Amino acid sequence: MVKKKTCVFISGKGSNLKNLINCSRDKNFPIKISLVICNNKNAYGISYVKKYQIPYVFIDTNQKNYENKILYNLMKYKISFICLAGYMKIISKKIVNTYKKKIINVHPSLLPKFKGLNTFTRILENKEKKTGCTVHYVNNKLDDGEIIVKKIFFLEKNDNEKTLKKKTQILEYRAFPEAIIKVFRNC
Ligand code: GRF
Repeated sequence: MVKKKTCVFISGKGSNLKNLINCSRDKNFPIKISLVICNNKNAYGISYVKKYQIPYVFIDTNQKNYENKILYNLMKYKISFICLAGYMKIISKKIVNTYKKKIINVHPSLLPKFKGLNTFTRILENKEKKTGCTVHYVNNKLDDGEIIVKKIFFLEKNDNEKTLKKKTQILEYRAFPEAIIKVFRNC
């Protein structure tokens, strides 16, 4: 099997990146992480990149030409698939259109519910009975593309933002690899 050259975009902790790195070490997992793009110099996730010697590029998303810099690096590393794993910046139209149906994202809610930021606060305020995570294709609208995998859990009485985040991320570590396998199942 020829693994798809994949770029993972991160901004912070990088626990999903760490999980994907572990998965991709399996010869039957469809992707190889060939590049990591990060827009936060202090992101903890960078430590995984260093540990596993994965090529890594810092992109200053406050700079005017940052989008061209991203595209340049995606081409340079011959990237054919992109995973957004806690990347706190909207992907520009140019990149979405260049990589149509080749970009996926993990979101900490049951989409289409609770798109955008501060999901856990809103889930609690809304007294939701269940929540979870969603892996979906990225299109030009926020958290809106076709859904690939969803995983659900039921809220408990004492849940707070911290416990919800923990429970949601545990599901993400299963949902993201499952979604990748599903995307490439027939390739
Ligand atoms: C994930 O929980 C994901 O739902 C959201 O950002 C978080 C990133 O966490 N998009 P990490 O950096 O992978 O630990």
